[in-house]
Amino acid sequence: MSVDDLGFNPAWLTERFPFDSKARNQEVESACLDYLASFPTPVIVDLGCGNGANTKYFIDRIPSDHTWILVDNDQRLLNHALESLTKAEGYQITNYKPTEGLTLTQAGKQVSVKTACGSLLELDQLLDLTTVHLLMANAVFDLFSEDQFIGFSNLLKTNRLPFLATLNYSSMHFVPASETDELFVGYYEAHMQREQAFGRGMGKRCSEVMEQVLRGLSAQMTVGPSTWNIGSTDLGMLNFLYHYLDDSLHELPLTDVEGLLLDGWLADKRRAIDGGGIGIRVGHCDLFARF
Ligand SMILES: C[S@@+](CC[C@H](N)C(=O)[O-])C[C@H]1O[C@@H](n2cnc3c(N)ncnc32)[C@H](O)[C@@H]1O
Repeated sequence: MSVDDLGFNPAWLTERFPFDSKARNQEVESACLDYLASFPTPVIVDLGCGNGANTKYFIDRIPSDHTWILVDNDQRLLNHALESLTKAEGYQITNYKPTEGLTLTQAGKQVSVKTACGSLLELDQLLDLTTVHLLMANAVFDLFSEDQFIGFSNLLKTNRLPFLATLNYSSMHFVPASETDELFVGYYEAHMQREQAFGRGMGKRCSEVMEQVLRGLSAQMTVGPSTWNIGSTDLGMLNFLYHYLDDSLHELPLTDVEGLLLDGWLADKRRAIDGGGIGIRVGHCDLFARF
């Protein structure tokens, strides 16, 4: 999987950050933070960190000294994450090594950030898991297949590692809706679950599958919705989503009739976005699991 192919460009990850932050499920988050409070200086791993969204979101919500290990299989994104953390408001930055890590301090609180470049599916080869207190992943696991998640969960269970997975995709609705939305949103979701070298991504089934797999491993779980409410004036988000829909749907083997219908549907959405007359509600689920 390449960043460019999948659209993990820093501009998209930056655009979605405030929507993710607003959408995060508070009950799930509290369960996770309550658990974390029992460790005086926790070590947290941000899996598929992109440009460091979890660190940016939680740094002020974790009151104690703590350490982040940012994991991504793209060194460019790890570098970008560190660079953007140097701008964290209200923190002093020391020990900044552009590809390796940095330290942030604020009123006596110290936050260390390190990086590890590699696949989250081979985490035990990347990190000493005995030193880790919590794994987090934001907007990551819907990309992976059920088999990949089963392998990952076995690692969680073996190492008794708690896991917070936020913003896992579940649905998309245009507001107002039109007649053909269901057809093309359905195709978009089928594209997420298309056959790829590693299997089929879990896509909209992600939360349901994760819960089922983790329940099978006797995990205790807190689960809840985390929904983006994208309004008609949120043009940055609307344009990104339009672009992803357009690209994905044109990759599908549609019939000529479906192709024509699709072009008409996309043109209607383009007009509605440009005219400030449409929003999108994107459903996600958050999950905190521990053993
Ligand atoms: C949708 S982005 C989410 C990024 C970030 N968590 C956020 O919320 O902005 C998915 C991230 O997973 C990373 N990724 C994909 N496959 C991976 C793998 N096998 N191991 C580690 N990271 C991976 C991508 O490089 C990308 O940064």
